[in-house]
Amino acid sequence: MSGEPREMTITVDGAPVRVREGATLLEALRAHGVDTPTLCFLENLTPVNACRVCVVELQGARTLVPSCSRKAEEGMVVSTDSERVRHARKLVFELLGSSVDLSNAGPEVARWSARYGADPARFGAPAPAASEGSRDHRHAGHHAAPDPAVAQTVAQPVKVDNDLFVRDYSRCILCYKCVEACGGDAQNTFAITVAGRGFDARISTEFAAPLTDSACVFCGNCIGVCPTGALVFKSEFDLREAGNWREQDQTVTRTVCTYCGVGCNLELHVQDNTIVKVTSPLDHDVTSGHLCIKGRFGFEFVQVRERE
Ligand code: SF4
Ligand code: SF4
Ligand code: FES
Repeated sequence: MSGEPREMTITVDGAPVRVREGATLLEALRAHGVDTPTLCFLENLTPVNACRVCVVELQGARTLVPSCSRKAEEGMVVSTDSERVRHARKLVFELLGSSVDLSNAGPEVARWSARYGADPARFGAPAPAASEGSRDHRHAGHHAAPDPAVAQTVAQPVKVDNDLFVRDYSRCILCYKCVEACGGDAQNTFAITVAGRGFDARISTEFAAPLTDSACVFCGNCIGVCPTGALVFKSEFDLREAGNWREQDQTVTRTVCTYCGVGCNLELHVQDNTIVKVTSPLDHDVTSGHLCIKGRFGFEFVQVRERE
């Protein structure tokens, strides 16, 4: 018997598409060149179906299905650009855009929002930001009545409680990626999870403790997967605050971490001859994009030019 994976045929927007057995609809769509928005999906994490922006219409199914997790089956007939799909995606971008600061979420989010005609402003002007820490202690079932004149938001002060990374939950879309990376998909530390319910749901450490008093081991794997800039290197945060974060001027150099013999690949992001952050390739078979504290943050010594 051949070890080749079996293939099947599905129909995408009227065209037959060959797909290997076990592939998701998203894999099939990407292989077929269909630009499909995703927010909570990442190749190195288990799909959680949190954002629903990747939905497609599947003939015979009552509801739209998330393409990032739904496995392809022989004979499926899928529509990726029907009125129903466009409407669902538009509403997701509108709800997120009205309540979350997406300005650092990357150009593709702005592109997708524009493609579906999302108009977050139709929900009203943003409500005032929450005071420091007030969202961290809200209890499920104790909501104040919303003010219909304004759009509720997750705006709140930035959390800066350590020298390595910053949490800016005004930018958090609750995609769960950081929770997965911190938990069973990579780090197995489980320092963060989702607390609260409904609009008060938020990413939190145990008892909303500062990271330095939590179970966090500062691997930074949560930063590596965050799609909106809610979690960022302190070095990036400071440069952005100073108006000097210039991604277009940065080089990215791939190298091997020198701290131990595992062989993790690092991508050094360099601006003005200074390392400003470190990532790892998602498809690297040693790291799958994840690192430890030394590889992720232990770059400052490289930049100390003066020796005693
Ligand atoms: S730095 Fe690592 S341990 Fe800390 S919250 Fe992020 S993923 Fe979890
Ligand atoms: S902090 Fe980032 S990765 Fe975590 S849930 Fe929010 S947007 Fe997603
Ligand atoms: S990307 Fe598929 S549900 Fe979020």
